[in-house]
Amino acid sequence: MSNKVIEAINLTKNFSDNLNVIKAVRNVSFSIFESDIMIIFGRSGSGKSTLLHLLAGLETISSGKIEFKNHNFEDLSFDELAAIRRSNIGFVYQFHHLLPEFSAIDNTSFPLLLNGENKADANEKAKIILEKFGLEKRLLHKPNQLSGGERQRVAIARALVHDPKFVLLDEPTGDLDRETAEEVRTMLKDYMLDSKAALIIATHDRNFESISNFQMTMDSGALV
Ligand SMILES: Nc1ncnc2c1ncn2[C@@H]1O[C@H](COP(=O)(O)OP(=O)(O)OP(=O)(O)O)[C@@H](O)[C@H]1O
Ligand SMILES: [Mg+2]
Repeated sequence: MSNKVIEAINLTKNFSDNLNVIKAVRNVSFSIFESDIMIIFGRSGSGKSTLLHLLAGLETISSGKIEFKNHNFEDLSFDELAAIRRSNIGFVYQFHHLLPEFSAIDNTSFPLLLNGENKADANEKAKIILEKFGLEKRLLHKPNQLSGGERQRVAIARALVHDPKFVLLDEPTGDLDRETAEEVRTMLKDYMLDSKAALIIATHDRNFESISNFQMTMDSGALV
């Protein structure tokens, strides 16, 4: 029997301004286990990014519950949640969010430095993963000196460098050509096989079905 990584129970997220309430995520419940790769499809605006942010503890939930290993997100302080994220969770944002003043290698080693590793070890690990992603000639480039696809690969490298057991990826192949997208899919599958991590991938790319063991679709905030 495999181990549960995260469980969402009736997860709901509302955004409100003075006039409207937008129900971005409605009553979402599911569990994901070690070595699962779950794909979330769904039209633009259906709530995929919002759901991933909730699951990573990057947004507060309006109602419902998230159990991550033995913790309830709602019982954790800001600092405790941040510590769990730093050591257990990898996140690839839809729009990368790389640090503009930092080179590819410094962006990638950043999570390791936050976890207290020394700079030489962190750089060595960052270099190894960037090389795996075909970026050995781009280590010292800053984000504005990289192509969109290269930036995306740096963002994925940064999300995996600390060997997280739970990885959330928001449109990880959005900017990639077919061949590079295929390579990224293979790398994500290999990462899962090596680390037994659970991966959740929000995407419009149907080719992800080939590496996943279950697929869901979001429709107006609900997972169906
Ligand atoms: N911070 C926010 N404030 C108000 N509304 C928001 C906020 N973030 C998202 N929304 C709204 O919530 C809904 C879901 O947005 P979300 O970004 O999760 O969709 P998505 O499925 O990721 O779309 P896409 O495929 O375009 O990335 C949308 O109607 C969006 O306008
Ligand atoms: Mg999105």
